[in-house]
Amino acid sequence: MSSATTGALLPAGDLYPFEPAGVTRDPGRSRSGPAERGADVESAQPGAERDAVLAISGVSLRFGGVTALADIDLTVAPGEIRGVIGPNGAGKSSLLNIVSGLYRPSAGHVRIAGVDFTEVPTQRLAHLGVARTFQNLALFGGLTVLENVVMGLTSTIRSGPLGQVLGLPAARREDAANRAKAEAIVAFLHLSGVAHRPAGELSYGLQKRVELARALVARPRLLLLDEPMAGMTATEKQELAAFVREARDTYGTTIVLIEHDIGVVMGLCDRVAVLDYGRKIADGTPHDIAADPLVIDAYLGVAHDADETLEIEEAV
Ligand SMILES: Nc1ncnc2c1ncn2[C@@H]1O[C@H](COP(=O)(O)OP(=O)(O)O)[C@@H](O)[C@H]1O
Ligand SMILES: [Mg+2]
Repeated sequence: MSSATTGALLPAGDLYPFEPAGVTRDPGRSRSGPAERGADVESAQPGAERDAVLAISGVSLRFGGVTALADIDLTVAPGEIRGVIGPNGAGKSSLLNIVSGLYRPSAGHVRIAGVDFTEVPTQRLAHLGVARTFQNLALFGGLTVLENVVMGLTSTIRSGPLGQVLGLPAARREDAANRAKAEAIVAFLHLSGVAHRPAGELSYGLQKRVELARALVARPRLLLLDEPMAGMTATEKQELAAFVREARDTYGTTIVLIEHDIGVVMGLCDRVAVLDYGRKIADGTPHDIAADPLVIDAYLGVAHDADETLEIEEAV
């Protein structure tokens, strides 16, 4: 198999490059787009890494004297919900910030669908099919829910700003198409009833769901969620967890989920990596992780996390 088969880097502006759920991937298929040429693709990667949607290898990150991440390896398989857990300061957000291009690693490689994108500018990451939500709410409170969700498509807009302002036919068609996509995802997440309300007026739980809608609207191949359930009530957490699972099942979205609620992680994730002081101390199924003495130690080592340790044991 040629290395190009795993390196389906998208030509810029390709709107829906992602296969819908249930489509069988043809490992022999080769898509060589113009952006693919010159990409750093190795042909001799081990199987798991070669087929991974996301493959992080040997990634380290230092801030002055602080080592936020040390030699992290992590693979995420197509359609997987991959949990990343660990005490505060373990390096979880830093890892997502690297994958979404906000931080440059001090060492190591990050690949999406086999293509090393360390040199891809952040503003072009959406074209690789990466979307994320942030740990703190990042909505435009004065805009409606629908307007916020349409913002998730801005990186894909083709017609120039002049065409938009003049209302040229191509720009109008694009506006209508984007609105239809936003309406579809708003309906999918059961937000149609509040679609025309200013996002800032909604409950915290609904606002987090709008964030998820905005991240999903461009149908990312890889969705990064940084503590999407923090601050939610138990009911809101269950609702959002169900929508995350449904997004994976319906759209085939591959998801990396950072979450503190161990019960949610255990119920939702296929595999879980555990970070502690910037190192990966365990990686496996929720069941394996919960039984790992290193993981239990890491959680017991943080006073306020003692309850979570109990939850680990109870949740499995
Ligand atoms: N921009 C930054 N500048 C300096 N230090 C940082 C920065 N971002 C993160 N860190 C440090 O890196 C470590 C990991 O932080 P973070 O990734 O936010 O952890 P987590 O998300 O697991 O709580 C912490 O020691 C934090 O202080
Ligand atoms: Mg964090």
